[in-house]
Amino acid sequence: MKQIGDIFNERKDNPLYNTSYPLSPADWRQYEAEGQLSFDPRPISFYLHIPFCTQSCSFCEYTRMRCPSEKVQHQYLDILENDVKHFLTVHRATVLEGCDIGGGTPTALCDSAFARLMELYKYIIEQTSQTGDYEPSIEATSGTLGFNRIRMIAEAGIKRVSIGIQTADRVILHNHKRNCSDPLISVCRTIERLRREGISKVNIDLMYGMRNQTLETVDSDIKAIRMLSPQQVTLYELRTNMNGYGFSMSKEDLFQMYGRYYDALVKMGYHAMFGQNTFSLDSNDKGVSSYLRHRMTEGSDYVGFGVSAQSMSRFGVSYNIHKGKVLTDIDLNASSYNSGRHYRLPPSELASKYIAISAYNGRFSLAKVSEILGEDARYHFRDVISFCTDNGLISVDGDTVNITHDGFKYYGAVFSLFYLPPHLLPSASNNKCDLFSLFLS
Ligand SMILES: C[S@@+](CC[C@H](N)C(=O)[O-])C[C@H]1O[C@@H](n2cnc3c(N)ncnc32)[C@H](O)[C@@H]1O
Ligand code: SF4
Repeated sequence: MKQIGDIFNERKDNPLYNTSYPLSPADWRQYEAEGQLSFDPRPISFYLHIPFCTQSCSFCEYTRMRCPSEKVQHQYLDILENDVKHFLTVHRATVLEGCDIGGGTPTALCDSAFARLMELYKYIIEQTSQTGDYEPSIEATSGTLGFNRIRMIAEAGIKRVSIGIQTADRVILHNHKRNCSDPLISVCRTIERLRREGISKVNIDLMYGMRNQTLETVDSDIKAIRMLSPQQVTLYELRTNMNGYGFSMSKEDLFQMYGRYYDALVKMGYHAMFGQNTFSLDSNDKGVSSYLRHRMTEGSDYVGFGVSAQSMSRFGVSYNIHKGKVLTDIDLNASSYNSGRHYRLPPSELASKYIAISAYNGRFSLAKVSEILGEDARYHFRDVISFCTDNGLISVDGDTVNITHDGFKYYGAVFSLFYLPPHLLPSASNNKCDLFSLFLS
């Protein structure tokens, strides 16, 4: 059997180890099952996927297409509405702890389709109850956030808007087929307008690890953050698992870029632990919507609507149709999008999925992993924990496993040691898991 150190060394420079899980869809083939994913009667989040964009960025890993005709946009919303209504008819007492509208670019819809999307959101709110910490969010690009659209978002009660910037470097944007006609000053005006309409949380997304990004371009992006002064900032390291990008930066360069951002953001008053992707001016806020917060911190259940959207509960994970596909109009012509692949996962896979998403937060809860595994995670992972603490890659603070400053350089490989299938764990426990027997029954 391989030693943990050998496994870590094999993985540490491999760009496939990041916040994505599973590493390849084929890894879950054995768990594919008939039927629909079930949910327990407890708070969940919704995610609505709008796969339309005004552009087709070459770094993007999401299921999307250029905006089709207005007619096709409305057809898409017909099916999305049906799927949401069907779910709410079957699950009558749904309590929502989050709802994100993402994509693609939801704000790229034409005016009438966007108005319908906001009506659908209001319908969801009427038909459900919401937890006290409920905080919905919508993704946008500044060029698609006109005044009417901002008003509609505010009227619907959505208080968080996430704007993708990626980088302020126009050459890099251009080289990635991303529209760069929207100068920073107009993004600044959009953010001011959002604030005036009462949308208090504006997040901006930035990416690092793309071709031609350097510490100098990062410095320019830091200046852009200073100028825009959003409430929250999310830093995405480029993932290439799904998009055939054909280039990956060295771990050392990525680490330096993150570090440059981190130091500057902290100086500007943003809060985050080193290794966390999300920054906020408010120290009580994790810099994300309540949907992502519950996923990251508690591994809570969520239901995805629209093509390729993902759902998860303690029974497994499902993906709606067309996951990972470059879409055409014809693909949108279905009676429901909720009929893709369904995986009944064993606890070890569910725990890995939770740990992978928690990597955004730079930490995960051992109590949560124990709950999912049905056994003591501290015992189950004792050799991995010893290896990582002895080598300064993680620290264990009470119930929490934190990535350390040094561990963050290889965070993908570090977190992945906790995905090791039980038979690869050097001192695997043979405990039968209650939840797994539940799946099989
Ligand atoms: C679903 S996208 C939608 C945002 C919006 N359409 C835009 O382009 O600004 C959400 C965020 O994912 C990030 N993203 C896209 N492709 C990525 C990739 N290959 N690796 C890491 N992050 C990525 C970008 O920062 C983007 O803002
Ligand atoms: S990054 Fe945003 S705008 Fe670009 S293709 Fe992806 S979802 Fe569309």
